[in-house]
Amino acid sequence: MNASKANSNSEAAGEPLIVIASNRGPYAFKTQKDGSFSLKRSPGGLVTALGALATSHDVLWVATALGKGDHEWSEQNLNRPQYIEDIYLKFVRPGKRAYEQYYNLISNPLLWFIQHELWDLPRQPSISKETWDAWQRGYVAVNRLFAEAIADAIQNEDEDRPVIIFPHDYHLYLVPRFLREKLGSGVQIQPFIHIPWPSPDAWRVLPEEMRTTLLTSLLMSDRVGFQTQRDAFNFVQTCRFYLTDAHSRGSRDSIHYEGRKVSAATYPISIDVAQLEQMVEEPETRVFQAQVRNYVNNRQLILRIDRVEPSKNILRGLQAYRALLEMYPVHHGHVQMLALLVPSRMEVGEYQNYLQEVMAAAGMINAEYSDGEWEPVRTMLGNNYRRALAAMQLYDVLLVNPIADGMNLVAKEGVLVNQNDGVLLLSEHAGASYELGDHALLVSPFDVYSTAEALHEALSMPLAARRERAEALRSKVQKSDVNRWFRQQLDDALRAFSNQAMNASTSDTPEASKSAASITAGGTSSD
Ligand code: G6P
Repeated sequence: MNASKANSNSEAAGEPLIVIASNRGPYAFKTQKDGSFSLKRSPGGLVTALGALATSHDVLWVATALGKGDHEWSEQNLNRPQYIEDIYLKFVRPGKRAYEQYYNLISNPLLWFIQHELWDLPRQPSISKETWDAWQRGYVAVNRLFAEAIADAIQNEDEDRPVIIFPHDYHLYLVPRFLREKLGSGVQIQPFIHIPWPSPDAWRVLPEEMRTTLLTSLLMSDRVGFQTQRDAFNFVQTCRFYLTDAHSRGSRDSIHYEGRKVSAATYPISIDVAQLEQMVEEPETRVFQAQVRNYVNNRQLILRIDRVEPSKNILRGLQAYRALLEMYPVHHGHVQMLALLVPSRMEVGEYQNYLQEVMAAAGMINAEYSDGEWEPVRTMLGNNYRRALAAMQLYDVLLVNPIADGMNLVAKEGVLVNQNDGVLLLSEHAGASYELGDHALLVSPFDVYSTAEALHEALSMPLAARRERAEALRSKVQKSDVNRWFRQQLDDALRAFSNQAMNASTSDTPEASKSAASITAGGTSSD
C-alpha cells in the first residue's frame, strides 16, 4: 500500500489511502483443481465505483471471507492484503459460529428488520439469551476483528498520510468505536448506511445496552452517510432521543456529542451509467432479450426484480396484480407479470417462509386466471443479471413497491435501460422516490387497491405521456451516477482533512482563524 497513485484532488492534504470495509467483498474466490484461484467479481455499483476510483487512488478493501475459496486464498497469502485488479484486498476470517451469530442472528434479521420496520411486534422479536450471546460473541466480536484488520493493515503508513475509512452498512456499526480506540483522531471515519434509518420509535425494540453501544459507536465517526435527508434526520432524532448528552442545536443534519460535532450527510447512491449502457448492447444480454420477448409474446409486461426479501413487499405486489385482474377483466390475456426473484439469506427462517408464501400466492393467481394459453404470472428464481437487464429493456410497467428501502437500484437501472417508454410504479417509501418520484406513479406500499388502480393507469397510459415520463426519468439517472456518489463522500472527507490541518497550523492568530472559518463555511452543509 505504499505505491501511491498520483491524483490532483488530494494534493492539498497529501495522497489519501482509502479503506473500504464491508461484509460482502468485491470478489469471491474459488479454488481450482490445480490449487490456483479463479475470481468472480461481485455484482453491484460499489465495486464498479471503486474500480474507477482505484485507478487514481490507493484503495484497501477489507471484507469477510465468505466461501471456502476466500478462506483458502487468504490463508495462502498469510492473511495479508493482496494487490488485485487495482485494489488491495484483505479478508477478515471469523469462526463459523461467530459469523453465523453476527450475520444470521444480529445483522439479519434483528437490525435489518428494525430498520425496515418489519417486526410483527406482538410475536417477534424475542431477545433471548441466544440473542445476547450472538451480540457479544458474534456482532461485537466480528466488528472488533474488522477494526483490528484495518489497524493492522495500515500500521506502516506514513503518519502524515490521510487515511479515510468507509465502513459500509448495518453489519459494521461498531467498527468506528473500535477504530477510534486503536487509531485515535488522526483518521477520518465515515460510515455509509445503505438501508433506511427509521424514526426513534422503531429502535425501542433493541435493548438499551445494544442501542447505546451502536449509537455511541456511530458518533465516534467524523460523518455518517445516509441515502436520503429523511434517514439523516431520523438518525439525528434517534441520537437526541436516546442519548442524554446528544444535542442537535437546531440542526437537522448534525449532532453534538462529547465535545464533537458529527455530520449526518446525505449521499444518494446510484448506478454505473456507462457500464450499464454498454452491457445492454452486448450479445450476452441480447440473447436474453429475445427469450423474454418470446415469452411475453406481445402482451404488456409488468416486471418486478427483487431479492426474495420481506421488505420488498412482493406479496402485496401480487395481491395488487390479482386485484387488477379482478377489477379490470379487459387485461385478461393481454398482460403478463414477470417476477425475477433472487434467493437471499436462505439460512434465516423469516426468508424461507417468505419465499414459500410468495410462490403460493403466485400459484393461486395462475390457478384462478390462467386459461391454458395465458399464464398471468411467472416467477423465475435465480441470480441472472443479464436476464434481468434484458427484461428491464422491455417492460411496460416496472413495479417497485417496497415497504421500506434505502434506495432501490432496480428503479434506477430500469428507467435507464428501458426501451419501451415504460412506466415506473414506485413506493413512496423507497429512497429512490426522492429523485424519481415526480415522474413515476407513486404508491403507498400498503395500499393494495390503489396499487391495482395505478397498474391499470400505467397499462392504459397514452404513449406520449409514457414517453415524457420515461425520458425525464432517464435523464435524472444519467446525471447522477455512482462515481459522483463516491466522489462526493471522498471530497467531504478530504475537505475535513484540509480544514483540520489549516486549523491546527493557524489557530494561534485571530486573523488566521478568521480565514480558516471562512473556508469551513464554504464547504458542504454536511460538514
Ligand atoms: C442490501 C444491503 C447490503 C447487502 C445486500 C445483499 O443491499 O444494504 O449491505 O450486501 O442487501 O444482502 P446480502 O445479505 O446477500 O449481502
